[in-house]
Amino acid sequence: MNTPLRLLPVALLVAGGSIAQAQPLHIPDSLPPGVTAAMVTRGREIFRGKGNCYTCHGAEARGLLGPNLTDAEWWHAEGSYLAILERINSGVPLSQSRRGVAMPRRGGSSINDHEVQSVAAYVWRISHPRDSLPAPLTREMVELGQKLFVGAGRCSTCHGADARGNIGPNLMDDQWIHVRGSYLAIVGTVVSGVPSARSRVSVEMPARGGGSLTDAEVYDVAAYVWSLGRRR
Ligand code: HEC
Ligand code: HEC
Repeated sequence: MNTPLRLLPVALLVAGGSIAQAQPLHIPDSLPPGVTAAMVTRGREIFRGKGNCYTCHGAEARGLLGPNLTDAEWWHAEGSYLAILERINSGVPLSQSRRGVAMPRRGGSSINDHEVQSVAAYVWRISHPRDSLPAPLTREMVELGQKLFVGAGRCSTCHGADARGNIGPNLMDDQWIHVRGSYLAIVGTVVSGVPSARSRVSVEMPARGGGSLTDAEVYDVAAYVWSLGRRR
């Protein structure tokens, strides 16, 4: 059962003790999992400021040298939050540019991972009408994620079927090497993997675990990993 928070009876939400059973894990309504309204607001400032985005995309993101980011037409990003995030992180090499203009990685700015997540949240928000919203984080996602973890996601081959670690690190303990436990950071690590140069054990984690997880499946498996932290 996949019940968005907003469809649960209000009485259930304010009923106290039983909430833990019924409530979806926690995600603000109407934004992609892990994205908050504060990130969208902060992302707008970054877009118009230290991220440099406005210099090529215009202060209203309607396009200058770089394309309009407010329409439904995507050249490189397919419009999902994750695709936008990946695109901002990697930029657009000249060889892939339609207009013969490259976009440097992170706009050539020195914004950090968290700022990239925020600016991606802003770009997602301005390009999606309010009624086409992805589902909030739910218990069902965690359950699907657990199946993917030991199945198609291949995560268990390196992290162990119980997520207590093998070649890859233990995901049950409270020691985070790369992600500090936030849901969105887990999503980001699953999407990009960990290059061997950044891996403490010099073992590479391949992007999406080396399998072919869809964006929806990445959200699910990350929900499962995130939930492990809540069980400690
Ligand atoms: C130096 C100019 C430049 C800067 C700075 C820049 N971009 Fe871009 N961006 C481009 C160009 C050029 C393209 C696409 C090129 C093409 O295909 O012709 C692009 C493409 C994109 C896309 C993919 C659009 C699509 O239709 O798929 C996104 C998303 C994006 N930029 C976001 C950003 C964000 C966010 C920032 C700030 C962190 C930023 N850009 C900074 C020039 C820039
Ligand atoms: C080929 C082995 C391998 C596979 C497959 C793999 N991982 Fe990893 N994973 C690693 C390694 C290695 C690291 C980083 C270890 C280090 O830096 O010491 C890592 C790191 C992580 C982290 C960050 C942990 C932290 O402490 O910050 C998360 C979260 C994670 N993996 C989740 C997943 C998920 C979910 C999947 C399945 C989609 C997956 N991994 C598949 C090897 C793997």
